[in-house]
Amino acid sequence: MPAEIDPNLIVCLNGEFISLREARVGILTHALHYGTGVFEGIRAYWSDAEHQLFLLRPLEHYRRWKQNCGILRIDVPMTAESATDITLELLRRNRFRTSVYIRPLAFKSAERVGVATDAEDSFAIIAMPFGEYLRSDKGLHAGVSSWRRIDDNAIPARAKICGAYVNSALASDDARRSGFDEAILLNESGHVAEGATCNLFMVRDRKLITPPVTENVLEGITRDCVMTLARREVGLDVIERPIDRSELYICDELFLTGTAVGIAPVVRVDHRPVRDAAIGSLTQTIRQLYFDAVLGRLRAYRKWIVPVVSLELEEEPHASSLAGSHGR
Ligand SMILES: Cc1ncc(COP(=O)(O)O)c(C=O)c1O
Repeated sequence: MPAEIDPNLIVCLNGEFISLREARVGILTHALHYGTGVFEGIRAYWSDAEHQLFLLRPLEHYRRWKQNCGILRIDVPMTAESATDITLELLRRNRFRTSVYIRPLAFKSAERVGVATDAEDSFAIIAMPFGEYLRSDKGLHAGVSSWRRIDDNAIPARAKICGAYVNSALASDDARRSGFDEAILLNESGHVAEGATCNLFMVRDRKLITPPVTENVLEGITRDCVMTLARREVGLDVIERPIDRSELYICDELFLTGTAVGIAPVVRVDHRPVRDAAIGSLTQTIRQLYFDAVLGRLRAYRKWIVPVVSLELEEEPHASSLAGSHGR
């Protein structure tokens, strides 16, 4: 993650394009006190080969955002298609020529004390340059957390609710302080749920296994990409079934998936090597396929990506004074 974020970045707040410096909320905002927001994380990957920025599966992200907002009864006043259009506009105004992370956030915005929600909702979309989230080229050392994954009947893990990320923050913080790169959380039944900010896959006997969406996991879009690529391009059986903790210690390969982490191999769990503690060959293959797909190198998966840069407008001066001051 970049150390500093440029305050001149252009962001979208309630449909208006303004600078990050100007985009402010009051300290009594409901979501700030009670966690009543729903967010998304979307990537756009820069391809040097095509001199193009590719936005990855925006419609799927925005459909999930709207569905999840419905769980908290937050109204997002636009369709997934128009949210995608706003995002394209935002990326173009910022003139990014590097890989980018996009953070849509919808939240309860009334400024008052009291946990009951009302109909005052706001939304923001922020895009920022973004590199690797976890340094995973040599493989990660993950630790099973003593914190349990939040249960659907407490705070739905599938809903990407701001307040739910206290669970992820507690687990990540503990994991890092104990010398691990990432936490793996078990659910209340004691089965493996997911990483603090990512889904989990294990390989056993050339079968790819991941917990079903009813195990208190986020219904990951990278998870869906991986399942599709593994089935169609590698011919693997992909099985959704509960995973026991001790299976992590005896599996052949293990990896984590997410918009931010991409596909991150895990080579050690709880101080035990996964197989011979080297990145597994199926993990390597799926990871390569994923990066080929998101960079537009696989024709069959061009449908996952939306080009951002209008090449014919490339040389024209930029119309917006805000974008001009950002100067990318
Ligand atoms: C808890 C959690 N699980 C899984 C994921 C992966 O989901 P996706 O692949 O849609 O980014 C994320 C990240 O968004 C997450 O926060």
